[in-house]
Amino acid sequence: MDGKVRGLAILGSTGSIGGQTLEVVRSFPGKLSVVGLAAGHNHELLARQAQEFKARVVSCHSPGEMGASWLPPGCHVTTPEEVACHPDVNLVMAASVGSAGLGPIMAALGHGKTVALANKEPLVMAGELIMAEARRWGVDILPVDSEPSAIWQCLRGEERDVSRVVITASGGPFRQRPRGELASVTPEEALRHPTWRMGKKITVDSATLMNKGFEVIEAHWLFDLPWEKIEVVIHPQSVIHAMVEFADGSVKAQMSPPDMRLPIQYALFYPQRPRNGALPRLDPVEIGALTFEALEVDRYPCFGLALEAGKKGMTYPAVLSAADEVAVELFLAGAIGFTEIPDLVGDVLSEHHSVSTPSLEDILEADAWARRMAYAWAR
Ligand SMILES: NC(=O)c1ccc[n+]([C@@H]2O[C@H](COP(=O)([O-])OP(=O)(O)OC[C@H]3O[C@@H](n4cnc5c(N)ncnc54)[C@H](OP(=O)(O)O)[C@@H]3O)[C@@H](O)[C@H]2O)c1
Repeated sequence: MDGKVRGLAILGSTGSIGGQTLEVVRSFPGKLSVVGLAAGHNHELLARQAQEFKARVVSCHSPGEMGASWLPPGCHVTTPEEVACHPDVNLVMAASVGSAGLGPIMAALGHGKTVALANKEPLVMAGELIMAEARRWGVDILPVDSEPSAIWQCLRGEERDVSRVVITASGGPFRQRPRGELASVTPEEALRHPTWRMGKKITVDSATLMNKGFEVIEAHWLFDLPWEKIEVVIHPQSVIHAMVEFADGSVKAQMSPPDMRLPIQYALFYPQRPRNGALPRLDPVEIGALTFEALEVDRYPCFGLALEAGKKGMTYPAVLSAADEVAVELFLAGAIGFTEIPDLVGDVLSEHHSVSTPSLEDILEADAWARRMAYAWAR
């Protein structure tokens, strides 16, 4: 490893990806310096993290409730944008959930900060604008999501002559449940993912496969891939995260145990691959068999909605993302059923009138409109 200490800002530090990012930081004492932390409502954990990692700036939803005495000396409370843009930050781990990350990500890119991107919803909403902003300032966006990270790792060293990219999906907890029984799925059941431990929103998105649709959109923007070159297959073991097929028919696959600390660490230390004894190792004999199945698109209407909105572009993906965020929130609150998630998202999308070549303001307006429509749908 080089001797440089990287200055980190972690947006969403109190969440699943944020917490695992801090675990990786703990595994490499003196290599990464946590400059800033941004969270939502979990003030208590944020304060403990700020103490442990001697953060210099923090942000949260209601700073008034935080109590300055909890913070380490010299640490002050500010906005997520300022956390991301602090002069000592080189790398921003974007790991908040939903559309809230869009503003800080755009601010970070505008300030020349490398962005490690776990928070996929902003890229779904505004992929074209985010990629243009990164190009404008000559800044890298490093994938953290395991499937885009796998594509990135397969493409390392040879980015030409790609004929196809295959993203894998576990299929979620209801892959084998009769379709007629899906309407009665409870939030507790939807939150029981077979292979990954994640935050609630992405866990429900994984059960509906909206998350896989988001990943196709992510891959389209991050790797400039045409839609027809991106495929999805069901792979229940979640060991192969993606495959890249080249023009000669050779296929590279990236394999690792389903543990987000690996893609997180890959982005934090890229282009190096330091050893981390805390990470599990892959034992092929123990795995035994890797299986693949075709994706039954009719079984997962959210996947189809995501692909359609992604391909239409304009403000449709922003509406998709916002309507889904509200639908998942309402499902988790018991206000709508599991199979009403695609009904709600589909109805809001079909009511939408998009503007072509949208600005950031148009996208935020479409997001706000979709939220209003989604709440009204459930009333
Ligand atoms: N978890 C995974 O394995 C995984 C894998 C790939 C990609 N991702 C993506 O990474 C992102 C984070 O996922 P996660 O599973 O870590 O979610 P999570 O556990 O729910 O954590 C979300 C984080 O965002 C913060 N947050 C919530 N609302 C916010 C707001 N309005 N403004 C600022 N911060 C806010 C939360 O703060 P409080 O808790 O303090 O309220 C928390 O720190 C998502 O976009 C997800 O799709 C996750």
